[in-house]
Amino acid sequence: MKAATSLIKGGWQLAGGHGPVDRAAALADMRAFVDAGITAFDCADIYTGVEELIGEFLRTVPPGTVRVHTKCVPDLDQLDTLRPETLATTVERSRARLGVAAIDLVQFHWWDYTRGDYVAAARALAALGARGLFTRLGLTNFGVTQLNALLAAGVPVATHQVQYSLLDRRPAAAMAATCQAHGIGLLCYGALAGGFFHERWLGAPEPTEPLENRSLVKYKLIIDEAGGWARFQTLLRTLDRIARAHAVRIGAVAIRWVLEQPGVQAVIVGARHAGHLKSTLAACSLVFTSDERAEIAACLAEMAVPPGDVYELERDRTGPHGRIMRYNLSTS
Ligand SMILES: NC(=O)c1ccc[n+]([C@@H]2O[C@H](COP(=O)([O-])OP(=O)(O)OC[C@H]3O[C@@H](n4cnc5c(N)ncnc54)[C@H](OP(=O)(O)O)[C@@H]3O)[C@@H](O)[C@H]2O)c1
Repeated sequence: MKAATSLIKGGWQLAGGHGPVDRAAALADMRAFVDAGITAFDCADIYTGVEELIGEFLRTVPPGTVRVHTKCVPDLDQLDTLRPETLATTVERSRARLGVAAIDLVQFHWWDYTRGDYVAAARALAALGARGLFTRLGLTNFGVTQLNALLAAGVPVATHQVQYSLLDRRPAAAMAATCQAHGIGLLCYGALAGGFFHERWLGAPEPTEPLENRSLVKYKLIIDEAGGWARFQTLLRTLDRIARAHAVRIGAVAIRWVLEQPGVQAVIVGARHAGHLKSTLAACSLVFTSDERAEIAACLAEMAVPPGDVYELERDRTGPHGRIMRYNLSTS
């Protein structure tokens, strides 16, 4: 049994690119997540309008009800000249949008290690935490080499947010062990592959562009890296058999698998609405049999792992993963 606290409500799906956002419905959904025991919300300075929306929700609940995890994602165009004051302005802006005295977690991202000084920036950010602007410092999408450089520089890293799923097992290579060795919890996104781990894709033909939303565009590329649509269908059939045996949905099986990986502290579940909440919660109580674990492992053995360290593919701005990203959203 895992507690609902090992699940985090993701906020990117409310930032645009996933259909219109109905503010009243989004606020009611937040309440549904909290009532279900999911009391950590992930967002970012660059998720347009989401910090404000969470701030609006926070005003309706007693202080301390929700832990907010935001991010500090300096623009690519700022990296060469980034100053500590700019980081301070960004964090202050997040605080104001959220309406909190101290943010629970600020997760630091750096687009390009060849630009500017990410170690100096992380130290400057940590100093803002020490001043009380936020409680814990996390990272997102760092490589093992750069994580080690930050640790060597004395940056206090509490968590690391990375993509980790049945389709993307890159963290298992070295990142998970590195984080475990330093007491850094992995907070994992992509567990549902943006909605691909759902019955509606079982037996469905390979989707072609244009895909319905930004998540599907992003994770279809990961399906391709993991061996393509036919192998994904084999995996889905396996997950569906397991889901049926436990009277849960495919999504619950996909989330549970990630929750069980060494080093994983929590799974961040993207939510455009609360419609999948029951299935999401079912991941907490699901227990695989040893045969089921073996079935999943056999399926994964036939699939590829996307190459490189976590987020290495995505760092190539000329490649398919990097081309779909937006790099200058913090100040725009
Ligand atoms: N650090 C980063 O670079 C980064 C990158 C991406 C995301 N994130 C964070 O992670 C969060 C999650 O995003 P993600 O990209 O990882 O998406 P995800 O969780 O893999 O997929 C989310 C989508 O899956 C569907 N879904 C939700 N619950 C489900 C369930 N129980 N069963 C089946 N399908 C379900 C929904 O799609 P439908 O509504 O269409 O059914 C939802 O929009 C984001 O909101 C954000 O906070 C961080």
